[in-house]
Amino acid sequence: MRLFGKTLTTAAALVMTTSLAMAEDVEVLHWWTSGGEAAALNVLKDDLATKSIGWVDMPVAGGGGEAAMTALRARVTAGDPPTAVQMLGFDILDWAGEGALGDLTAVATAEGWDAVVPTALQAFSKSDGKWIAAPVNVHSTNWVWINKAALDAAGGKAPETWEELVAVLDAMKANGITPLGHGGQAWQDATVFDGVVLGMGTDFYKAAFIDLDPAALGGEQMAEAFNRLIKLSTYVDANFSGRDWNLASAMVINGEAGMQMMGDWAKGEFLKAGKVPGTDFVCIRFPGTQGAVTFNSDQFAMFGVEGEDAMAAQGAMASAIMNPTFQSAFNVVKGSVPARTDVPNDAFDDCGKKGMADLAEANSSGKLFGSMAHGHAAPAAVKNATYDVITAAFNGEYADGVAAAAALAEAVAAAQ
Ligand code: BGC
Repeated sequence: MRLFGKTLTTAAALVMTTSLAMAEDVEVLHWWTSGGEAAALNVLKDDLATKSIGWVDMPVAGGGGEAAMTALRARVTAGDPPTAVQMLGFDILDWAGEGALGDLTAVATAEGWDAVVPTALQAFSKSDGKWIAAPVNVHSTNWVWINKAALDAAGGKAPETWEELVAVLDAMKANGITPLGHGGQAWQDATVFDGVVLGMGTDFYKAAFIDLDPAALGGEQMAEAFNRLIKLSTYVDANFSGRDWNLASAMVINGEAGMQMMGDWAKGEFLKAGKVPGTDFVCIRFPGTQGAVTFNSDQFAMFGVEGEDAMAAQGAMASAIMNPTFQSAFNVVKGSVPARTDVPNDAFDDCGKKGMADLAEANSSGKLFGSMAHGHAAPAAVKNATYDVITAAFNGEYADGVAAAAALAEAVAAAQ
């Protein structure tokens, strides 16, 4: 017995020594700097710490990650890329095309990622048949977060159509609050527009934003979508310009504003503030988009590093991210849903359960599309061109929706 105990201790010591010897810091570039995001990030940091993977933080504030991607480009140009980088959709494929990313195929094969990661995500996690990124979540952008008391005061019925949405926004205005909590930043305007365009029909969303069909981009339906966006811009407060998204969430949380149209990272802010879905706030799909989902997925891509220890740490981080138990714990806090199809929904709140069910339903009915606003519909050049037109429209720079749609078709054509 004693000998057995001693042997075990020796073996454990050996394992510890080996893993300590292998332990290497990973420097992680990310844009998770809001309260809810930081809480989720801590779940990841703590998990890696239990595996002796050291964390060197490189936060670059700015929702949607544009500033983070600019910082990344500078680091790579200087020949000093961070080890692991939070990345979205087409950006991952662009970096893979430049030959900058490490190969995670060995760990992916050993752990059977092919069988459990939804194919819509794999389209961005793999390049030339190799795994180049580990998806930590699936977010979706066509959500509306409503203050429950404000909704009750506005009649109590969550809007299901565009007309009902306008009626609720009008009622909130009459009740003396800001109907729409919003931050005037291009990516936030574009996030709202994902929902508006999807609300005009799934075929239309696909034709315009995935297929980049000039007729859809510049046609009548797009003109109507822009008219709707311009209508929404009348419900924001005077100080909306430049406001960070989490401050707009805070306006809804404290009842200053009625609702926010934002991806489900907003739920992380409500939870961080101790708010409960169904009691303090209500989550609905953007009216008219029920059954359809515009998704984005945060993935961690690994940049080329020298040395076996560093590569081992990257593999260990990827493996930790893909662990089903971790995916549950992380996404419960982040507001997103797991990037694997085999994670139970038990630990998730009602909005999270709905998110998981919606994703599965949209996937099987062909109504799951990459988010334009969050880099999953088209490459960065096209995305940035749409941002410019959307923001100009939101700020009243076009005479009407027809003029905005014409500008969009032209801008997208020029960006390709
Ligand atoms: C990311 C989320 C993040 C949000 C706001 C999105 O692009 O996918 O993880 O919380 O931006 O920063």
